[in-house]
Amino acid sequence: MSAPIIIAIDGYSSCGKSTLAKQLAKVLNYKYVDTGAMYRALTLYLLKNQIDIHHPEMVAQALPNIQISFGLDETTQEQFTILNGENVENEIRINPRVASGVSVVSAQSEVRKFLVKQQQAFGLFKSIVMDGRDIGTVVFPQAELKLFITAEPNIRAQRRLDELQEKAQTTTFEEVLANLQKRDLMDTTRADSPLLKAVDAIEIDNSYLSRDEQLNHVLQLVKGLNGNAH
Ligand code: DC
Repeated sequence: MSAPIIIAIDGYSSCGKSTLAKQLAKVLNYKYVDTGAMYRALTLYLLKNQIDIHHPEMVAQALPNIQISFGLDETTQEQFTILNGENVENEIRINPRVASGVSVVSAQSEVRKFLVKQQQAFGLFKSIVMDGRDIGTVVFPQAELKLFITAEPNIRAQRRLDELQEKAQTTTFEEVLANLQKRDLMDTTRADSPLLKAVDAIEIDNSYLSRDEQLNHVLQLVKGLNGNAH
């Protein structure tokens, strides 16, 4: 058996990072951690408890009350996010207040410190695929494989729209595209841990790649690593 590694996947919103991460975790029998879900769940806690997300001191005070973990649905084998004992998976994906508030919350340094610490603990024994915005740059700068995923904005917006419509959410292509561009801007321009390609990350533009083509490409990269001792 090959040595366990850390796979860090970063990239823009809705470019299929989590789809790839889940596929990899399944094929390699690795743990999968969706760090975006952690920022979303934390944002949901603040909104539910009427904590003003624009006040970093109030947000920081609330952090010790927030516990985020992941569970596995036995029937679907899908992972879900747990906030203080409650399954919030659906809510963090469809609540528009979470979608718009999470960029504000994830820009705050105390929030990032709090979650990065937990994310690093998940990776203690390697055998992990983690996706987010700062995984290859901040969380695991020592990751053996770093991927930076991109896709054209129109294609990302269409994929996100399809996803929302599957969950019976009514919205328009224009609305989705505008939200995505706003998030791209906030993610790439924030002062603390902006989204940025690590110098040693491999960039993959999946605009015209199928899920399986992308997966096979990455599995070849993993194989290549295993050929080299590490
Ligand atoms: O991947 P996502 O769309 O679920 O992420 C939700 C938000 O959280 C997004 O606006 C960026 C932020 N995020 C972050 O700042 N750092 C991460 N490691 C993951 C997500």
